[in-house]
Amino acid sequence: MADNGNNSNSNLIKIKEQFDFGPYPYFPLEQSPQHETESLFIHNLITPYYLKYKRLPPQDNLIILDAGCGSGYGALTLALANPNARIVGIDLSEKSIELARHRLHYHGIKNYEFHVLPIEEIGCLNYQFDYINCDEVIYLSDDPQVTLQKLAQVLKPQGIMRVNFHDQYQRAEQYRGQEFFEWLGLKKNNPEDQAIHTVRLIMQQLQDEVNLKKNCWQPALGNRLDRWGQEYILMNYLFQCDKGFTPLDVSHYLECAGLELIEMVYWRKWRLTELFTDPENVPAIIGAVEAIATPWERYYLRDLIHPHERLMDFWCGYPTTPQATILREESLIYLHPQLCTDVVKTAWRSTLEQGQAFPISHFLKTPAQSCFFQAEVSLDFVTASVLWPLLEMPMRFSQIKDRWLHLYPQDWSTSNPTDAKVITIKLQEILFMLEKYLYVLIVSNSYSNPI
Ligand SMILES: C[S@@+](CC[C@H](N)C(=O)[O-])C[C@H]1O[C@@H](n2cnc3c(N)ncnc32)[C@H](O)[C@@H]1O
Repeated sequence: MADNGNNSNSNLIKIKEQFDFGPYPYFPLEQSPQHETESLFIHNLITPYYLKYKRLPPQDNLIILDAGCGSGYGALTLALANPNARIVGIDLSEKSIELARHRLHYHGIKNYEFHVLPIEEIGCLNYQFDYINCDEVIYLSDDPQVTLQKLAQVLKPQGIMRVNFHDQYQRAEQYRGQEFFEWLGLKKNNPEDQAIHTVRLIMQQLQDEVNLKKNCWQPALGNRLDRWGQEYILMNYLFQCDKGFTPLDVSHYLECAGLELIEMVYWRKWRLTELFTDPENVPAIIGAVEAIATPWERYYLRDLIHPHERLMDFWCGYPTTPQATILREESLIYLHPQLCTDVVKTAWRSTLEQGQAFPISHFLKTPAQSCFFQAEVSLDFVTASVLWPLLEMPMRFSQIKDRWLHLYPQDWSTSNPTDAKVITIKLQEILFMLEKYLYVLIVSNSYSNPI
């Protein structure tokens, strides 16, 4: 036991030294994620909260933890995506925390605090969090089960956590590369410019056909002599305590922490059937297994034959009864807040002026991505004109329907008055389709009959 403790401490020291040397990520102070729609979408608590509860999170007194916040770029993204929230960042590395503080101050964020603190001691802050972001951290932990449990203990009952683990299968070659460099003694003096230089030299001089080089070396990054090149080599070849996990390991850790999966952050990437040329017509055994497997088992099976993602990146929370989307006359329909931007508005207006469809998925790709394809989601001209006011404010379903009938009182093909029943069904289909991608959120607080 004593040895384990010492190992743990020495590993924490190794991690701290690595990130004091090179706080991650290396983004210049002045760079801002304010126009990074995809990242804001992921960091906005509304996204996972709606997925789990089919409603919006409370707006006041939100408190968000960035656990292992590094140089603070993620914390800044969290602050911009959740402007009402207080951001608490913790990290082992003093240099990273210094930079993170400086970054949020530089960008005019007011409501934040940072602490040099290991995640394992998060309880000492006496906070309960609405949202915990633990991005690119937990795979460094000696005991991810304990780390996850510590985080779960400071999560509010309705709170949500985003966590990710390195995928053992996808990163297998990278881990062999790390072992190779460890054997050469390059991970001993952590961290060291000379070691980074030596790795670069070895990678450059290996034959192109050597697997590690062929499959895991990005010369455009690795050959750079600046901080980006340094970060690339550190985070891939000399990464201290970097470990890989299987989806079944992750499932086990979640169970031990009393948490359940909400969705993958890049949420459609784990369907087994998607790996087949015709997903609708797969061998019976595949369909049968997919139907009964848990999400993590499906991910595992997919991973065994197509380990595609470096990270198993997901949201989780305490178990609740799954909520179905219910549409009622008085349901409030929101455009996802990350779509309510000037850029989207200008493009939307311009397509309307030209009488064209609005390609909504061009402006927010993440929810429409899958392993092999990017779904194209468009609003036809009529829908785009009817939903236009959502860019400014939410509307009730009944209001949207009235607007449709007002804008299009006649059926263009028959010149008959537009049939309200037909429009109700059509609008319902459209909204459910858009809600599937979270482009719109359907919030039904009352208990009247569904449509
Ligand atoms: C790869 S960086 C990720 C930084 C940031 N989350 C991001 O994704 O941009 C990992 C960070 O986690 C910190 N870290 C690792 N283990 C930690 C622990 N047990 N407690 C607190 N911080 C930790 C490291 O110091 C480092 O800054």
